[in-house]
Amino acid sequence: MLPRLQNRVPPPLLCPSYTGRPTARRLEVTLTDDVLIVHGGTPLQGQIRVRGAKNLVSKAMVAALLGETPSHLYDVPGIRDVEVVRGLLELHGVKVSDGVEDGELVMDPTNVESASTDEINVHAGSSRIPILLCGPLLHRLGHAFIPDLGGCHIGPRPIDFHIRSLREFGAVVDKTPEGMHLSAPNGLHGAKLELPYPSVGATEQVLLTAVRAEGVTELRNAAIEPEIMDLICILQKMGAIITVHTDRVIEIQGVPRLTGYEHKPIPDRIEAASWAAAALATRGEIEVVGARQADMMTFLNVFRSIGGELKITDDRIARPGVTGAEGGIKFWHPGGELKAVALETDVHPGFMTDWQQPLVVALTQARGISIMHETVYEQRLGYTDALNSMGATIQVYRDCLGGTPCRFGRRNFMHSAVIAGPSKLHAADLVIPDLRAGFAHLIAALAAEGTSRVYGVNLIERGYEDFEAKLAALGAHVERP
Ligand code: EPZ
Repeated sequence: MLPRLQNRVPPPLLCPSYTGRPTARRLEVTLTDDVLIVHGGTPLQGQIRVRGAKNLVSKAMVAALLGETPSHLYDVPGIRDVEVVRGLLELHGVKVSDGVEDGELVMDPTNVESASTDEINVHAGSSRIPILLCGPLLHRLGHAFIPDLGGCHIGPRPIDFHIRSLREFGAVVDKTPEGMHLSAPNGLHGAKLELPYPSVGATEQVLLTAVRAEGVTELRNAAIEPEIMDLICILQKMGAIITVHTDRVIEIQGVPRLTGYEHKPIPDRIEAASWAAAALATRGEIEVVGARQADMMTFLNVFRSIGGELKITDDRIARPGVTGAEGGIKFWHPGGELKAVALETDVHPGFMTDWQQPLVVALTQARGISIMHETVYEQRLGYTDALNSMGATIQVYRDCLGGTPCRFGRRNFMHSAVIAGPSKLHAADLVIPDLRAGFAHLIAALAAEGTSRVYGVNLIERGYEDFEAKLAALGAHVERP
């Protein structure tokens, strides 16, 4: 059975906006029950398992809406984003139930129906996934209502690429103060599209709309992240005809109907890298069962360049203590000093923006000057203030400190960081600003000497399944007050 989160005290769904150190207002929001006490300084050691990727599973659930028969999704993590999408599907008449296997979700879209704007608005601000319901709902119902989006505050995160693409398909999009109303009076038809930037979400939007639009869609400058390729695999299982050409061109031939699917998602490469960074920052050794080399090659190269050691075990090679001969990657700190590196985040196959924050914590322990140029989001370095309050030496700059062409270069965004190390981290009271930065805060507290209080840990539950149990399994000294 899937671990369900609804019995917990409902947490604030929005990421509190980040301004640096804890403030009275933000502490007030989170103080009550949402604090983890972390006794740092112990190397994390042991084995944990990652399940299906958060950033695929939520989209796979949306895809189920397009089918005319039930879909079975396996290895679904018990995280809050899954609960949000489940709620949205259920509101639209999809029967969602736990399957017989641990982590199996069954979604039956036989009776898709309209939901009231009030009901849908309950999910306003909870996640960015609702925007992806546009195409599937237009195909199934002829109209859609999308609430205000949520997600982490890591930049303005506009949806202009989504709206432009939907209009090209023939959708009528009406933005109102309560949300976005869409209709398709003349149906949806294929289009020739080019994204200004290879956005993951906009590529998914196009895929989920084009598969059942009439005619052929050509998408240029598409995102090609492994999660996108896995979504294409799902859609193909459902009956879609999709060709991935070279140079970020995807061609979709619309089909009149799709069936359900059975799919085991790719593992969560962001979670795997987060635990790898935790091993490095705490001078420990963590085996991440389920992690897959092919999706993480760029990260693995960087991990090794810094001085971390890793061992990859492929699927089908039996190992003691691991059921079903599941592969994985063991990450460890070999002792001695780590080396500084210069890095830039980028779209796939570059270094993922979501790997950036946990790795920067490890880089505070490397000798020399490391550089991190964030080129995907404008405001994803705010969390470094908290690391500085713990003894790190990190300076952020408006300039592009790297060679990748960056959209933020001439704008007023602090999007490059210079990290001088090694720094001895000491305990502090921290407030989690968003999901990935939150995990970085946690790693910093685990690496630091002394006892830290980490507020707002519910945000970590959005994307890290059972993280407290995993910390316990790795020998971390953490407790609830
Ligand atoms: C997805 O967000 C992920 N979220 C993010 O993970 C991830 O960081 C991001 O892709 C990049 O890999 C989910 O999959 C739910 P984008 P998405 O559209 O799709 C700009 C996490 O922590 N843009 O590729 O929203 C945008 O502002 C999360 O798990 C526009 O300008 O990301 C950003 O600068 C955080 N207009 C850039 O493109 C648009 O219409 C990339 O965003 C759309 C995007």
